[in-house]
Amino acid sequence: MEKFHIVGPTRLTGRVAASGAKNAALPALTASLLTDETLTLHCVPRVRDIRTLQKLLDHLGMESQEEAGAIRLRRERPNPEHDAPYDLVKTMRASVLVLGPLLAKEGHARVSLPGGCAIGVRPIDQHLKALAALGADVQLSHGYVDARASRLVGTRFRFDMPTVTGTENVLMAAVLAQGTTVLENCAREPEVVDLANLLNAMGARVSGAGEGTIVIDGVEELGGAEHTIIPDRIEGGTYLIGAAMTGGDVLLERANAADLAPLLDKLAEVGVRVEVTAEGVRVRADQGVAARDLETAPHPGFPTDLQAQYMALMTQGFGVSTISETIFENRFQHAPELMRMGADIRVDGGKAQVHGPTRLTGAGVMATDLRASACLVLAGIAAEGETVVDRIYHLDRGYEQMELKLQSLGARVARWSVPMSA
Ligand code: EPU
Repeated sequence: MEKFHIVGPTRLTGRVAASGAKNAALPALTASLLTDETLTLHCVPRVRDIRTLQKLLDHLGMESQEEAGAIRLRRERPNPEHDAPYDLVKTMRASVLVLGPLLAKEGHARVSLPGGCAIGVRPIDQHLKALAALGADVQLSHGYVDARASRLVGTRFRFDMPTVTGTENVLMAAVLAQGTTVLENCAREPEVVDLANLLNAMGARVSGAGEGTIVIDGVEELGGAEHTIIPDRIEGGTYLIGAAMTGGDVLLERANAADLAPLLDKLAEVGVRVEVTAEGVRVRADQGVAARDLETAPHPGFPTDLQAQYMALMTQGFGVSTISETIFENRFQHAPELMRMGADIRVDGGKAQVHGPTRLTGAGVMATDLRASACLVLAGIAAEGETVVDRIYHLDRGYEQMELKLQSLGARVARWSVPMSA
């Protein structure tokens, strides 16, 4: 069992580079199932979710080679079952992203239903409805989705709500469909745009990604491509919030300011200095921060994946802020842990009221999901004394070398390996 041991408080200062975006790399890896040729991906972050997906791709017959920071994928030995077993899907919901590509390319996919997770119920009904609209025969039995279609046929489909992996899954199905598909009310996240760019580089004809309506003209087959994954706006945003929270000064390199705009606007609102330069995005917090309300929303709204970190920041904000979580129904599990460190937070359903500023003091805390863990690490850096964050395997799912990056910014963070019984 590994933990983070943090001694605070410290000001985060210096430069740090964003890794490739986990949530862009995951669909990019599954796009390799759409071609018989080689896909080369640069800037895939070395995080646990990527390794989990690589295991699944290996099960499906993908050969992957890593060299000089790139991953090369080629499906050398297709597994005729075209299946994603429960054991692999249960550890990572994004495994469901193999459904669209397998169905489109092989005419069959059998994927375990992911089930609920720590932050909410997270159904995949929209993925399935859209695939059925494309002509797939979709059956649910024994906890699996079994989808078949000799060839999908283009259609017009409107998502009930914008869904990121839903849009990605259906996009990957529609690129090989016969005719034109029009998808409405799509997720507009930068990760969807990155996937569309990759698919187009493979020979697909996708337009409108990043807008609500995406139009896909189906093609007969896709080829190989070489693609660089966009910078991780959530990982990078976490370090920028850390700078704001600790009165620090951090330059985030390899940052895309446009993708970070919802966060940067909010940071400017709370009173920190945000500067976009040729080198990256710099956040300086030499005055205190003001309390400002926040509501999460699909892109270009404020990302739910930065809500927990923003709550940590608001514990240091002057005044009362209300944080509304509108995407997931159970994404405030970090609040009671922050309260154990001295924060004054009142949670009522999907809203949390944070009274600040409060003096945080180090404590033993428990990570419950990926972004909640990041929030606790930031709180530990700002708090006085020792903080031990338990269950950091959640962090390792999505943050590459977090302790090293934080150390380079001056934080006193160490990874502790503790025997299971400790
Ligand atoms: N939803 C449905 N039915 C569906 C699909 C979604 O009701 O078929 C609902 C969800 O329950 C949720 C909302 O729609 O209330 C939006 O969920 P979405 O489908 O967009 O989430 P996701 O695709 O499962 C991705 C990211 C999450 C991120 C969300 C929201 C990946 C691999 N995961 O999840 O990332 O929080 O979009 O932006 O891209 C993380 O990295 O920590 C993480 C959880």
